[in-house]
Amino acid sequence: MCGIAGYIGPREAIAIVFDQITRLEYRGYDSAGVAFQREGGIGILKKAGKLVNLKQLLETEKPVSHLAIAHSRWATHGGPTDENAHPHFDQHDRIAVIHNGIIENYFELAQELSAEGHVFVSETDTEIAAHVIGREYEKSGCLTAAVREAAKRLKGAYAMVVLSVDDPNRIVAVRNASPLVLGLGEGENFLASDIPALLPYTRKVIVMDEGDLATLSREGITLEDGNGEEKTPEVMTIDWDIEAAEKGGFPHFMIKEIHEQPESVRACLAGRLQHDGSVKLLNTLPDDVWRRTERVTMVACGTAYHAGLMGAYLIESMLRIPVEVEYASEFRYNNPILRETDLAIVISQSGETADTLAALKLAKSRGVATLGIVNVVGSSIARECDAVHYLQAGPEISVASTKAYSGQVVTLALAALYAAQVRGVSTDLAASLALLPTRMAETLCVEEQCLSIAKLIRDTQLMFYLGRGADAAAALEGALKMKEIAYVATQESPAGEMKHGPLALVEPGVVAVFGSTDPVTRDKVVSNIKEVKARRGTVIGIGLDHPMMRNVCDEFIPIPDTGSHVVNAALSVLPMQLLAYHLAHLRGCEIDQPRNLAKSVTVE
Ligand code: M6R
Repeated sequence: MCGIAGYIGPREAIAIVFDQITRLEYRGYDSAGVAFQREGGIGILKKAGKLVNLKQLLETEKPVSHLAIAHSRWATHGGPTDENAHPHFDQHDRIAVIHNGIIENYFELAQELSAEGHVFVSETDTEIAAHVIGREYEKSGCLTAAVREAAKRLKGAYAMVVLSVDDPNRIVAVRNASPLVLGLGEGENFLASDIPALLPYTRKVIVMDEGDLATLSREGITLEDGNGEEKTPEVMTIDWDIEAAEKGGFPHFMIKEIHEQPESVRACLAGRLQHDGSVKLLNTLPDDVWRRTERVTMVACGTAYHAGLMGAYLIESMLRIPVEVEYASEFRYNNPILRETDLAIVISQSGETADTLAALKLAKSRGVATLGIVNVVGSSIARECDAVHYLQAGPEISVASTKAYSGQVVTLALAALYAAQVRGVSTDLAASLALLPTRMAETLCVEEQCLSIAKLIRDTQLMFYLGRGADAAAALEGALKMKEIAYVATQESPAGEMKHGPLALVEPGVVAVFGSTDPVTRDKVVSNIKEVKARRGTVIGIGLDHPMMRNVCDEFIPIPDTGSHVVNAALSVLPMQLLAYHLAHLRGCEIDQPRNLAKSVTVE
């Protein structure tokens, strides 16, 4: 996720904003840049790669200024290059812009501007926004008014900071959904996308509300709401330490990332799922490939493999195309049967997993079309695939994957919907997906209950994770979370398989988590629960609310209905993530970096 910093005041501004974005490095980025006021105009220096590259450039150029803004970019629209790095100028190099978030209607705006003769030098949506602001500035000559007017044309979630050549003592900032905070000093002021970047300089902060527009000078900050009405800023005094602030007040990255899911899924859907239920995808495979595909093979590891299973349920049920989901480490040595009419979908958060990359190369060598479902932009898998759909989840720092999982399921669902559209298959999945961010936020309200259940089962040595259909796929992911961070041994399988062997392990003290998000199989799941109860195991049910489930389970965690069993099952993974997190926390485990595991597995 990108980082934003800004400073106006008597001190050396470039050193301050550089330090500020260094403090946001933990968020992940792949290029960085600064814009600053100087004699005769605005200077911009930017570089792809790590901050050290920008530092070298700054050391060579030695710019000095009293006003600067800085940005660290995590590539979305356009790869991580010098040209795509922020800041971006408008048409006349008079307005400079940095931006976090996504301008959803950038394509439409780019067409409009191109028709008026605008020329772009990058592939970014940010440059389009800079041109929209520049066009407004030509009309009014007032930077604040230009940003206010331009914001009315921009759709999406964004935080944006703007400078003008003609106004060297002013910074204008606007936010819509993406966070932006302002810092108050004595004769100096600051801004940043996240509080840690402000803490070495000031503890007095203003958190901008949705739609707010701020104008910063040395003397002070004025704030107006989305209707252009001036408002009195609410100044907060921050008393957290910096490490806590990096985690947004959460004790660990994992729990922060669990709570980011409504927003990361919203970002994943933004600009793709349209109001009429249709899907627009950039950088996808040609329609011809979607049309001719007769079989899909998905390859992935760990959590990404579990997301693939959800994708398989969706594709098979909607499109009636057979799907095989393969562990990448097995696929590469199994001499897989691949045909020209197959499609290989390669799923990876990091885009660097060695086995998955090798599986992708094998599929390509057999002449099969390849689609990447990847989080990290510009990663090896993203580059190697014929087409790539990014998760737009932002960097995932915790080794245990959470928001990447939901991002993978939703990105696969969008691909399935797109294929249905191209093949003329009608489906109501779009409505369920549109509901998902809200349903996720509702589901996360069960955190207190998950904590109480974690206290009850704190000393358990063995847990079962069971379900039917897509709930069986969710069970695999819930169990993986539990073992990797809380170090509890788990036994996971479709619920109906239990009596064919694993049931022998059930005794008092054993805990079984049952998913039940499909009314069609509820009765069967209840019978399986009774088998565990008869052997005095403890049962935690997670699923659609129903008296039968509440009655039979020792503990029951309800999840709201999205109208789709598969989407419901993916939603039921959220309480499983919370349960694993709280149990691990109670047991004093190393949550973000569990023993023996690495975030990116780049070895076989
Ligand atoms: O980066 P990838 O998605 O390719 O990683 C795949 C697995 O290594 C990963 O999902 C792993 O299972 C996680 N630690 C699970 O939380």
